[in-house]
Amino acid sequence: MHTTKDLSNAEFDRNNVWHPYSRISAKDYNYYEVTDADGVFLQLNNNNWLIDGMSSWWCKVHGYNNSIINAAIHQQLKKFSHVMFGGLTHKPAIDLARTLVALTPKNLTTVFFADSGSVAIEVAIKMAIQYWHAKGKINKTKIVTVLGGYYGDTTGCMSVCDPEAGMHYKFSKILPKHIFVSRPKCQYHEECSDDDFAEMAKTLNENQDNIAAVLLEPIVQGAGGMYFYSPAYISRLRALCDKLNILLIHDEIATGFGRTGKLFACEHANITPDIMCVGKALTGGYMTLAATICTSEISSVISASGAFMHGPTFMANPLACATANCSLKLLIENNWQQQVSNIEKTLTAGLQPCSKLKAVKQVRVLGAIGVVQMHNKVDLSKLQHEFISRGVWLRPFNDLIYVMPPYIITKQELETLCDAIVKTIFANYS
Ligand SMILES: Cc1ncc(COP(=O)(O)O)c(C=O)c1O
Repeated sequence: MHTTKDLSNAEFDRNNVWHPYSRISAKDYNYYEVTDADGVFLQLNNNNWLIDGMSSWWCKVHGYNNSIINAAIHQQLKKFSHVMFGGLTHKPAIDLARTLVALTPKNLTTVFFADSGSVAIEVAIKMAIQYWHAKGKINKTKIVTVLGGYYGDTTGCMSVCDPEAGMHYKFSKILPKHIFVSRPKCQYHEECSDDDFAEMAKTLNENQDNIAAVLLEPIVQGAGGMYFYSPAYISRLRALCDKLNILLIHDEIATGFGRTGKLFACEHANITPDIMCVGKALTGGYMTLAATICTSEISSVISASGAFMHGPTFMANPLACATANCSLKLLIENNWQQQVSNIEKTLTAGLQPCSKLKAVKQVRVLGAIGVVQMHNKVDLSKLQHEFISRGVWLRPFNDLIYVMPPYIITKQELETLCDAIVKTIFANYS
């Protein structure tokens, strides 16, 4: 009988290690072992170097092995890597909170550090509910959201992800019941008509006494379909939330720090949410850290009635905060706006040939996000293998082949990525 000790690394990994959204011992999927990473490149254990078109799930904006970020981590490591945040504080966290308050829209002033994007969303939902509780409105506990959203995998997050098309439907019986409306029909370049906004308006008007907040990924729905919708929808929503005493929560975990061409996606609509969640690119993708940032109205109302009841062990981890401080400084110094605008131009030209194919439903680009949406679900394993043979790392899902490269990618590297996408799609779908 084999023991786990006899297994090669690849076999042990396949049989004994869970990967995201995976089956153990899956026969139809390969895991590729990374042995090194530098700039926009990942090295696999067969010595192939691949251009990373995913930014490691959208967070590695400065690429891998950045010497400036590496040095900042070492510097903090020499002092202390972690201390509890209960009763203690430290400069990396204070500096980072100052920067976040300065970078985010002006009404957002109070920062809660969380361990991951999912936790930041849990915290945002709790903040909204505790705010209304503190004001004596104990029935305002419902969250309204739009279908097609994805906010993370913890229980509170699952309760606001798309309950049918999303990945969490098997848990629906144990989840709190929130309120869903259709995803905005108006696309990014379109206006938002009364008709487009009617369902949201009706839902908010009819349930305002029970609604704590509306939660949205502004402008870009990520894992729920890489869908870009109209900034005018967000502006209308902001106005209606104000009128009806409903808070607005923005999940900027994927869109924040420049990905859509604005520092935060809410800037496309020129509005400020009451609560904003950021994560992913916050540390340049070096380690896990997220933050939930709220208005002083929310933090002062909650605090006047007692403590805000959340406090993870690794809250405001100093190493992660020092990394984020360095990464945000680099973002500005590297002129992210120019980087993202260059990427947008190259993606627009580079992916355009795909729109000629019948199998392709839509090609869309916004900021440093390029999407080729097919009419049908794609074969992930097969396409991934072909992408690797063309020297790039991509991970399509459902009917979507998309790219979200590191901001440091050169024009030539991005053209290689686009070329690999175009060639692979033509080889499989023409
Ligand atoms: C928009 C959005 N919100 C929340 C999350 C959850 O973040 P995390 O995976 O860090 O928990 C994600 C992750 O992909 C996301 O894209």
